[in-house]
Amino acid sequence: MKFNTKTIHGGQHHEKVTGSVMPPVFQTSTYAQTSPGKPVGEYEYSRAANPTRTALEEALASIENGTRGLAFASGLAATDSVMKLLKPNDEVIAMDDLYGGTYRMFARIYQDFGIKFHFVDMTDLQKLESLMNENTKLVWVETPTNPLMKLADIEAIAKLTKKKNLLFAVDNTFATPYLQKPLDLGADIVMHSATKYLGGHSDVIAGALVVKDAALGEKLHFAQFATGGTLGPMDSYLVLRGIKTLHLRVQRHCENGAKVADFLSKHPAIKRVYYPGLETHQHHDIAKKQMIGGFGGMVTFTFNSGKQEDAVRFLERVKVFTLAESLGGVESLANHPTSMTHASVPAEKRAEIGITDDLVRLSVGVEDIDDLLADLEQALQ
Ligand SMILES: Cc1ncc(COP(=O)(O)O)c(C=O)c1O
Repeated sequence: MKFNTKTIHGGQHHEKVTGSVMPPVFQTSTYAQTSPGKPVGEYEYSRAANPTRTALEEALASIENGTRGLAFASGLAATDSVMKLLKPNDEVIAMDDLYGGTYRMFARIYQDFGIKFHFVDMTDLQKLESLMNENTKLVWVETPTNPLMKLADIEAIAKLTKKKNLLFAVDNTFATPYLQKPLDLGADIVMHSATKYLGGHSDVIAGALVVKDAALGEKLHFAQFATGGTLGPMDSYLVLRGIKTLHLRVQRHCENGAKVADFLSKHPAIKRVYYPGLETHQHHDIAKKQMIGGFGGMVTFTFNSGKQEDAVRFLERVKVFTLAESLGGVESLANHPTSMTHASVPAEKRAEIGITDDLVRLSVGVEDIDDLLADLEQALQ
């Protein structure tokens, strides 16, 4: 089955009793048993499994070319279950530019549990290899990164992690499986904030993990079941509905994203545009290799003045773009990482990796491109 068919049919079948084409929202916590320990069907309690969540999980496995999908209450709940595979003294090597909440979980929760984190620029493969030792258990990559749109070469990193027998997880939120398939490139775990492109309509908080290896899938399901970060049936339904148009939406996000990046890179008020589709992007070669079919709808930029007040004034003036946290919905959003999504990253750390105070991140939606460009122009004026 091709990807554009999988988004609609992958892992899906008609509901058994009524033939309902979409899975019903099984709004139930528990399931009847005929005798103690003998449930009527295959379900016992919705923290362990729920049929609407199962339908979503099978769709997730299908679109990421995995064998097992798990749906979580948020992207961070999904990441949290991966961390529960670790023990004190284990080490994790993570990308230096990460979603602020992921960084906060690693640095402020799991570091205190005795897990050691190294945050590095993963384009330097020698540096990455030099940090691997007998305690290293996991390599965590976000590509493209939030907000600096840095890329990591998934295939090259997978070769290293396989050689050293380490787990390799990729946060595929920005790219989506329409553009990038980490499991096919050798990663062990794909993670998503399904709140973003998978859901696609800014109406749900959800997360996902997908794996190829059944035993790893079982361990992650155990962590989820034992600690409870599961996705409810209504939210599972919403994400599943979103996935059915993922290919159509991402295609338009890519078209609009490329046009916005081109417009901004020619604008006299703009200093630097971070978009993997631009030939000037530092990792354009990696993008061409692993982002099949387009470069996404996320565009980040800075101002010639370098002043935070210019970023703030711009963000106060946009009208079609909404100033808000989050990304990946059909509507265009604009964000100021320093004071919003990345406020939890310490100021020195932000400065070190290049998240300057004049940095603006756009999630370019699927509206008419003329309206988007006119909006950016008037706000920049
Ligand atoms: C790249 C990335 N990963 C993970 C997350 C966390 O996901 P959630 O907000 O669904 O918990 C986000 C949220 O913005 C994100 O952008």
